[in-house]
Amino acid sequence: MDRELALEFVRVTEAAAIASAQWMGRGKKHEADDAATTAMRKMFDSVSMDGIVVIGEGELDEAPMLYIGERLGNQQGPKVDIAVDPLEGTNIVAKGHNNAMAVIAAADRGSLLHAPDMYMQKIAAGKHARGLINLDDPIEKTIEIVAEANQKRIRDLTVIVQERPRHEELVERIRQKGARVKLFGDGDVGASIATCLPQTGVDLFVGTGGAPEGVVSAAAIKCLGGDMQARLVPQNKEEEERCIRMGLNDPYQLLTLDDLVKSDDAIFAATGVTEGELLKGVKFLGGDLAETDSIVMRAKTKTVRFIKAFHHLDQKPHLVIK
Ligand code: FBP
Repeated sequence: MDRELALEFVRVTEAAAIASAQWMGRGKKHEADDAATTAMRKMFDSVSMDGIVVIGEGELDEAPMLYIGERLGNQQGPKVDIAVDPLEGTNIVAKGHNNAMAVIAAADRGSLLHAPDMYMQKIAAGKHARGLINLDDPIEKTIEIVAEANQKRIRDLTVIVQERPRHEELVERIRQKGARVKLFGDGDVGASIATCLPQTGVDLFVGTGGAPEGVVSAAAIKCLGGDMQARLVPQNKEEEERCIRMGLNDPYQLLTLDDLVKSDDAIFAATGVTEGELLKGVKFLGGDLAETDSIVMRAKTKTVRFIKAFHHLDQKPHLVIK
């Protein structure tokens, strides 16, 4: 993949973030998501690539744009798989909470797992624990392994878990083991990436969340040299069959980081929508000026760029919500 693609993707996530940030705190998650999706879709037209959406807003009959199988870009550049999450954290934006982002992951054609929209059990940790974590280990053993890898006492280890009833027993076991638990409401892409960024103080991510978010997170974790494993959690026979139709012969197979993102040439880009630990939110600075904060990284070179940008919205009337 062209390295220029990375910067082009930032333009795309910036557009989605600016459009959806205007819905912050208005209690309208669908409108916030639609604004992000529409802005993202439009910006993709100008990108030099022959892209196919493998993780998107739904199947063709469910989503008018960024649907699975949709062709993106000007069809002239490299052949790539695209995973989009135009607004990761629709409820976050609706309520004005922290950590919503607009996100894209891309990799060589055929290398992103075609994850169906269902639950996925996940575990992620930073580079020191690479090759050491195993989704099937009891959480107590994983905590010991990650504490040793990160050279921390167990009592200083931070495990991040999504606050959901399905995780109550898991959280109790982490507490019993003596580690610290950081609960978050929504947005498990940012939470899993936090394990790879020492400045966040987060050591381990565990729990069950969306499968599409799992693949997007895996691209970021590959860029940051961390590790992740996952397993789809079909809720019924129909979801099992959907996994098989999407190419997974065994819907319950353990998925390693390389199963989630096969290629070592992956790109991840995200722009903050609301204020977060990883990225600042969009700020409307007065007049027509808006400020964005983005991250973009490539697995091939492991370069991580943080990009702060100022946008004149008079020049981008298509991003201004009337
Ligand atoms: P949306 O942006 O689609 O609302 O997803 C937010 C999210 O928190 C994801 O980060 C996470 O993977 C998923 O929801 C968890 O699903 P549920 O809310 O059903 O527990």
